[in-house]
Amino acid sequence: MINFSKRLLSSVRLAKESVLKISEIHEEKSSRLISIRWNDGVEGKYPLIWLRDTSPDERTYSIGPAMKARNLVMSEFDPEQNAESIKIDESGEILKIDWKDGAKSRFSSDWLRFRNPSDPEARKLRRQVYLLPEDTWDRAIIEKRLKKFDFHQAMVFHDFLEAVCLDGISILTGAEPGKLGAVEKISERIGLLKQTHFGRTFEVATKSDASNMAYAHNSALPFHTDFPSLEQPPQLQMLHMLHSAREGGNSLFVDGFHVANLVEIEQSIKLQ
Ligand SMILES: [Fe+2]
Repeated sequence: MINFSKRLLSSVRLAKESVLKISEIHEEKSSRLISIRWNDGVEGKYPLIWLRDTSPDERTYSIGPAMKARNLVMSEFDPEQNAESIKIDESGEILKIDWKDGAKSRFSSDWLRFRNPSDPEARKLRRQVYLLPEDTWDRAIIEKRLKKFDFHQAMVFHDFLEAVCLDGISILTGAEPGKLGAVEKISERIGLLKQTHFGRTFEVATKSDASNMAYAHNSALPFHTDFPSLEQPPQLQMLHMLHSAREGGNSLFVDGFHVANLVEIEQSIKLQ
């Protein structure tokens, strides 16, 4: 998660370097919105009740060294409640809201700016920080970008996982040829191995009386996604090449999201 927090920090640092201060606030009583204007001219409209709901104060959240838990339960939450006072502090960096229920909310300028519901750029940045970039690939791109790591180098594990998250695929090399167990070893470091009707892991080998296309020899497997019919399809699949084919035997992969993008563009339709 190092890179994601770095991105978050850099966005906050940018704000600090340019000394973003709240220069003006205005309560729109009829629509129950708080308008905020910063000294660089950017504006944001925040629903009043959203600010109460997300207030980081101790009355809303109990904060301890080992736990941060929400105290405010919906059955006791009054969606019509109002603020007693709404002010900017002297530094211009804090929005202070005292509520009629006694809670005192203090929102930093950076916190508000990062969550500005009126700013599409802030929304884009939040998606990058929390949801990872949506960067699809075709053959030319992945041939340059595909990352390979040594199976035994635990130090590269973060980079390996990040590559899987960003590209959907990554290569590990160096596991012992012909020896089972590498898939279990690496998966136990990531999370729980999902058991299917084939077992915890399963072997794909060509068989003369193949009952499944994966076991058929003489022909290439068409592109497919494994187990899409399961209620919870696997999030990550690992393949360990135990014995390579004497000839051929290439593993081919496609970025399905890239294909969906192309279909959307070519057909001028929006896929769900
Ligand atoms: Fe498959």
